[in-house]
Amino acid sequence: MNRVRAIIFSRGAARATPCAGWPTVSNRMSTTTNSNAFVDAARSTAASGSVVYEGERAVHEYLQFHFGSTDEVLPHDCGPADALGFPKRCASLCAEALVTTETSPPLPLSSSPEREKDQLTGEGGEGQTYKAGRSNRRPLRALDVGCAVGGITFELTRAFDEVVGVDFSASFVEAAERMRVEGRTQYEYLEQGSAVFRREAFLPEGTVPSRARFSQGDACSLDVKALGSFDAVLASNLLCRLPKPRSFLEDLPALVKPGGVAVLISPYSWLKEYTPTSEWLGGFREGGDADKQDGEYVDSFDRIRSIMEADDAFELERRCSMPFLIREHARKFQWGCSDGTVWRRKS
Ligand SMILES: C[S@@+](CC[C@H](N)C(=O)[O-])C[C@H]1O[C@@H](n2cnc3c(N)ncnc32)[C@H](O)[C@@H]1O
Repeated sequence: MNRVRAIIFSRGAARATPCAGWPTVSNRMSTTTNSNAFVDAARSTAASGSVVYEGERAVHEYLQFHFGSTDEVLPHDCGPADALGFPKRCASLCAEALVTTETSPPLPLSSSPEREKDQLTGEGGEGQTYKAGRSNRRPLRALDVGCAVGGITFELTRAFDEVVGVDFSASFVEAAERMRVEGRTQYEYLEQGSAVFRREAFLPEGTVPSRARFSQGDACSLDVKALGSFDAVLASNLLCRLPKPRSFLEDLPALVKPGGVAVLISPYSWLKEYTPTSEWLGGFREGGDADKQDGEYVDSFDRIRSIMEADDAFELERRCSMPFLIREHARKFQWGCSDGTVWRRKS
């Protein structure tokens, strides 16, 4: 369960429908801040161009997206509730794919980071199960490419022994690393106009930070040899933010172990500010007259499928909708519905 504590809160931030267990507004400090750094200096990630991911505002927005409580992200009794909990759902898509590959049972889920020590040493009842599980099978590795502030990376530590998070943004990697080392970090979010509130993000219970590591890197030119191979490689909402998405896809056969999975989640939101049109994987018409729009429509899933199935490298195992919700302010949101695809690496 997420634990996000309100540090500074305003009466203006009252939720439309309070949830059980959530302190009432009158119990909180009723102070707002007007953080110029947050409001003026940076654009929301609804803006275009990779540079937005270096900005302070983007770091705060993603800390809330990845670690904020559901009633903070969607403070209304209406709205797309099934788009909440995106980091957990992304990690589940990867973990569920393990069930069909592993012959021995997956790791028991650690109920808290503190329990991991017992589990590793075999002390305590659950620890012995864990130790037995470990000796029966090799450690499971996952790679989260474009990990942002690490929320999905940490969720993956529930099921994988080692999880590597890679992102191009130094600011995102720094925030993810702070979460890993300190288990918490402060962030700000916009309520209305220039009124900003401050909260503290905590690692979700049961995640195991010692299994995660973060580094800065470019998805289009990953050091495949240094990274090694993985049981699951996740690219969540990444492809249409890359200058050369095909280069990343072409590295996947080397990054995913035979029998492992590549999990691609994307809204196919192609923009030339991120990806030159010549590099788009679909979302255009081929041939014909551009003005008349009479060429043949190239769908992104179909184009990606042809790359994934080339040389018999992967086969499609599962396809599902992956809705997500990013709060811009209390009454404005980015809602997206990504295409979630699970590709099994052939032997
Ligand atoms: C839309 S965000 C998605 C973040 C996260 N995966 C999620 O689903 O919430 C795109 C992420 O990709 C990262 N990114 C953009 N270009 C990249 C590149 N060339 N290599 C690695 N990461 C990149 C951005 O910094 C950002 O964290």
